[in-house]
Amino acid sequence: MNLVLLGAPGAGKGTQSDLLIEEFGYAHISTGDILRAAVKAGTELGLEAKKYMDAGDLVPDSVVIGLVADRLTQEDTLDGFILDGFPRTIAQAAALADELEKLGRPLDAAVAIDVDYEVIVKRLSSRRCCRDCGYIGNVADESCPKCGGEMFQRDDDQEDVIRNRLAVYDKSTKPLIDFYSEAGILITIDGDKDPKIVYDDVKQALGL
Ligand code: AP5
Ligand code: MG
Repeated sequence: MNLVLLGAPGAGKGTQSDLLIEEFGYAHISTGDILRAAVKAGTELGLEAKKYMDAGDLVPDSVVIGLVADRLTQEDTLDGFILDGFPRTIAQAAALADELEKLGRPLDAAVAIDVDYEVIVKRLSSRRCCRDCGYIGNVADESCPKCGGEMFQRDDDQEDVIRNRLAVYDKSTKPLIDFYSEAGILITIDGDKDPKIVYDDVKQALGL
């Protein structure tokens, strides 16, 4: 399946991507992960992206569209992919549609995970991620339950930055809900339930 996961910061896009990948082996295309890896490696892209990410603003469309177009040429995406955190603007969605049409690999669905913003602020303030395997957990995880690695807090998970990310989501990304609804491929899921129940709902909605 070729999927887009939509949803505000902290809605659970990464968590649901991990569950889908574990069971179905789709390629995971998270623009946030790609950009964080570039920041960590200190590349030119990373230096450019860091200032936007630290403030909770969007990295320019021209940068992320190129990254995703490149990633979609890799062979592991041929058996299905999950776009997590992309597209985030109408311009990105239009560029993605053009690219997928060229490749002859249309989207099967855009899954929007819906969660109240105050729930999100609490979730993101306590999120911790594994430095080694990327496992997404929370402050209760002293070490990574999957690989034993060190858990750390993302630089953009500070309350003022979280609130700016939510405002940016409202302004730039929320219009994609209508975009994919008009395209006839939108599925909306209540994300304020136990992650495993959300996952069952996602699978049921996708007929998996
Ligand atoms: P990105 O990394 O994509 O961050 P985001 O969209 O802000 O989303 P998050 O990763 O914070 O949340 P998530 O929905 O994945 O939730 P998670 O599963 O971790 O982007 C970061 C930055 O990069 C952007 O701000 C921007 O600067 C830049 N960027 C990235 N893509 C871009 C693009 N396309 N264009 C321009 N700029 C771009 O869950 C969160 C927490 O909740 C965890 O602790 C988790 O354990 C917990 N949780 C998950 N599900 C549940 C549940 N059902 N119940 C209770 N807790 C739950
Ligand atoms: Mg994420």
